[in-house]
Amino acid sequence: MNDFGRQWETVRADAVRVFDAVGRSGWYILGERVRRFEAALGAFWGLPEAVGVASGLDAIEIALRAAGLRPGDRVLTTPLSAFATTLAIVRAGGVPVFCDTDASGLIDLNEARSALRAMPGIRYFVPVHLYGFPIDARGIRSLIEEFDLRCIEDCAQSIGATEAGQATGLTGVAAATSFYPTKNLGAMGDGGAVLTADVGLAAQVRVLRDYGQSAKYRHSEIGWNSRLDEVHAALLEEVFWPRLAAWTERRGQIAARYLGRWQSERVRPVAAPDSCSSGWRPSWHLFPVRVAAEHKQSLIGWLRARGIFTGEHYPVLIPDQEAMRGVSSACFGPLENARGLATEELSLPIHPFMTDEEVDSVADHVARWRPE
Ligand SMILES: Cc1ncc(COP(=O)(O)O)c(C=O)c1O
Repeated sequence: MNDFGRQWETVRADAVRVFDAVGRSGWYILGERVRRFEAALGAFWGLPEAVGVASGLDAIEIALRAAGLRPGDRVLTTPLSAFATTLAIVRAGGVPVFCDTDASGLIDLNEARSALRAMPGIRYFVPVHLYGFPIDARGIRSLIEEFDLRCIEDCAQSIGATEAGQATGLTGVAAATSFYPTKNLGAMGDGGAVLTADVGLAAQVRVLRDYGQSAKYRHSEIGWNSRLDEVHAALLEEVFWPRLAAWTERRGQIAARYLGRWQSERVRPVAAPDSCSSGWRPSWHLFPVRVAAEHKQSLIGWLRARGIFTGEHYPVLIPDQEAMRGVSSACFGPLENARGLATEELSLPIHPFMTDEEVDSVADHVARWRPE
């Protein structure tokens, strides 16, 4: 699914130089390198404030707290995502309310509207740009306006994606992203960031990430230890950042190659959302396909026997996870589309180091597969 060996060969000289520079600087946490990376990230995203934190999970959790979430507040979100999305809501004290996705795996904004009408008083919304597919920003905005929502967009998978010419994450009060190594902009360890146009919210995130410390040894909040390391910030800024555009471009080429060569009737790429505009450009964090649930294991096994590893994003809906037993939450409706994707979705390899021959070989093996 990824090839960190090839990645390391590509970045090695730069990474070693950066590591050496940080080592020699003698400053390892929340220093000049973090400030520089935050400035570059904000400028890229078109937002004045970017605040580095320790993970994507923390970015969502801290953003929710900084946005005013209080224990017991309900948060509308999707049942189909990394567990971290809901974990952040629960850890922040929120009560997740799950509503269905559309056939593309993105939260269904019509369902979201119905849920918000049926359950008045929900003030927080966490949509996820899943697979790197951008959600229709106008649709999110109209919900925010109609229901006066505080929206934190989960952009962990969507860095580099655009919709109607705009990056994801510009519609809500803040965006959260992750630098987990497999992400499109991945560090060599954990990291994340909160991005926002709200200077007050950014200031609050800065306080919360550092023990709730508003001035040295003055603690105004019960905060976190969620600081971005200098070495990760420096690697992100100097090693991975300059390659992101080319790597995103390559992911797009691979997706186009898969789609152009697609022959299988039994396995279908997950459809783009109906609402998508002509300027809809996924980051292609993943390349999700669908296969009949009863045959999924057969396809996984067939590909694995040919040296092709796949992923499942995500096979168990969040409200069905064991950890959610006894946790206060609610589902709006039977979540039919999300359940369908949970049983049928499979992610094919898509990473910038794949050669055209490898892409063709994956597509051809998928086409040759027959259910046992
Ligand atoms: C959609 C989504 N949200 C949140 C996260 C959490 O990010 P992290 O692993 O950096 O905590 C991830 C990554 O796993 C993710 O894919």
